[in-house]
Amino acid sequence: MSKPVITDTIKYIGVDDKTIDLFESQYVVPNGVSYNSYVILDDKIAVMDTADARASEEWFANLQAELNGKTPDYLVVSHMEPDHAGTIGKLIAAYPDITIVGNAKTFTMLPNFFELGDVKTLVVKEKEELSLGQHTLQFFMAPMVHWPEVMVTYEKSSKILFSADGFGKFGALDTDEDWACEARRYYFNIVGKYGVQVQALLKKAAALDIEMICPLHGPILKENLGYYIGLYDTWSSYKPENKGVLVAYASIHGNTAKAAEQIAQMLRDLGEEKVAVTDLAREDIAEAIEDAFRYDRMIVAASSYDASVFPPMELFLLKLKAKGYQNRKVAIIENGSWAPSAAKKMREYLDTMKNVEILEPVISIRSTVKEETVSQLKAMAEMVKNA
Ligand code: FEO
Repeated sequence: MSKPVITDTIKYIGVDDKTIDLFESQYVVPNGVSYNSYVILDDKIAVMDTADARASEEWFANLQAELNGKTPDYLVVSHMEPDHAGTIGKLIAAYPDITIVGNAKTFTMLPNFFELGDVKTLVVKEKEELSLGQHTLQFFMAPMVHWPEVMVTYEKSSKILFSADGFGKFGALDTDEDWACEARRYYFNIVGKYGVQVQALLKKAAALDIEMICPLHGPILKENLGYYIGLYDTWSSYKPENKGVLVAYASIHGNTAKAAEQIAQMLRDLGEEKVAVTDLAREDIAEAIEDAFRYDRMIVAASSYDASVFPPMELFLLKLKAKGYQNRKVAIIENGSWAPSAAKKMREYLDTMKNVEILEPVISIRSTVKEETVSQLKAMAEMVKNA
């Protein structure tokens, strides 16, 4: 990978991880993930976060290559999650005189992860500044984006925002792929619950003159910053990004799947431009969550199971609820061979979500799609198209 260029004095020292099986033990990352980290070389030298312990050797080598024999003065900790803080202990062991810069919450969490003994600390508050010489760091608290201690740092001379997990995406830096696709999957699954807090951070950012965003994952953003900030504004305000329909199904023997595929095709035939279909039992549920938030309408179709709903659908609805799914219209299809129960359960979940309108009537299939079901599906397709 060619190293991202930040400035002559701010260097990228992060690491690509292409061997991790599941990020945070739950997200598939077919193109890996990057643990971004930076060092600012000035009269005083500041390291901006570390990296996951998985990457500590390579991260150290990157740091030492940029230090060229010098000693870092500060470690700025924007976030204590181990994918960025995992190497703090080793950094302090190597440079025991380094001062750790964090906020009050950072230092309540630090001892939970590391037994550091006597270590130099600098507690910073909202808008406080730290001069390194030519560079001045200014700190802004971003609580619950998406941990309580998160803060972002604005470097005034270069107009760079070190944005913590904000504006991050899955995928190693050498991956050539659309930013929004993997940034959206990252956002809704990891940060999504905290839209209100992201909105608060965006308000703070709007007051700054930002020329570059350096996140903790994914590419450094240098151009069209309004595009990225605009998407974050849409996502964090729980507004649909596009008109479109997600058809999410959980099918045991394939009959519910057939109904789902049929209604998806009917929607396309009616001219609906964006129709995404996902098999919740087999496909990446994080992608399903992403698409549910992306589009303004959804159809959920599931088999009945144990007098409830087939578990892959229940897990999906649980996750949607946890991530704050709201402001959408949803149609329901259930299947049941003797006592259909899926719709009742799906409705129970959807009823607990804010401003989720259930499009009536629900379709209840008995085992297989029949002629009568096809006309019901057609009617539902038209209703969803016009909703
Ligand atoms: Fe990338 Fe929340 O850590």
